[in-house]
Amino acid sequence: MKTTLRIKLVVLALAGFTFACGGGDKTAEGTQEASATESAATAEVSLEEKYKDNPIYIKGLEKVKASDCTGCHQVERKIIGPSYADVAAKYENTEENVAMLAQKVIAGGVGVWGEVPMSAHPTLSEEDAKDMVRYILLLKK
Ligand code: HEC
Repeated sequence: MKTTLRIKLVVLALAGFTFACGGGDKTAEGTQEASATESAATAEVSLEEKYKDNPIYIKGLEKVKASDCTGCHQVERKIIGPSYADVAAKYENTEENVAMLAQKVIAGGVGVWGEVPMSAHPTLSEEDAKDMVRYILLLKK
């Protein structure tokens, strides 16, 4: 018995047709930078709020208000004179600095923060000037 083996080899050639697909223009997606207009709305407590219950704050604020300080100084914004917060950031809250700055408030002065002078306050007692300065130096952020 003869067994005939027929081997069929089927070669399938696959012709690859490359379709040049017109993929369309890639619309350049506008790289619109998200405007960084985030107002730093960090729920920050104002210095007034932070220290309002402190007796040094209450006493000093009363005296500062009774004088002319607020005409040239604000708590967190420089106007004619530096902000109290800037003064508090510059000087350590020590008795020496309190005494030194109180003398400056009484005598007036210029040159530490710029060319604009601070008027003298010769009628202020040393005690009152010190209470004012203690209040100012308390206003640290
Ligand atoms: C006519 C505007 C004016 C008035 C009023 C005024 N200041 Fe000033 N103050 C200034 C200026 C300007 C400076 C910066 C002076 C400098 O550069 O040396 C200053 C500086 C200071 C400083 C920092 C001093 C230093 O050497 O760093 C303290 C503290 C201060 N003032 C407290 C007071 C107090 C308290 C009062 C109210 C009794 C007062 N000021 C009233 C304008 C004023």
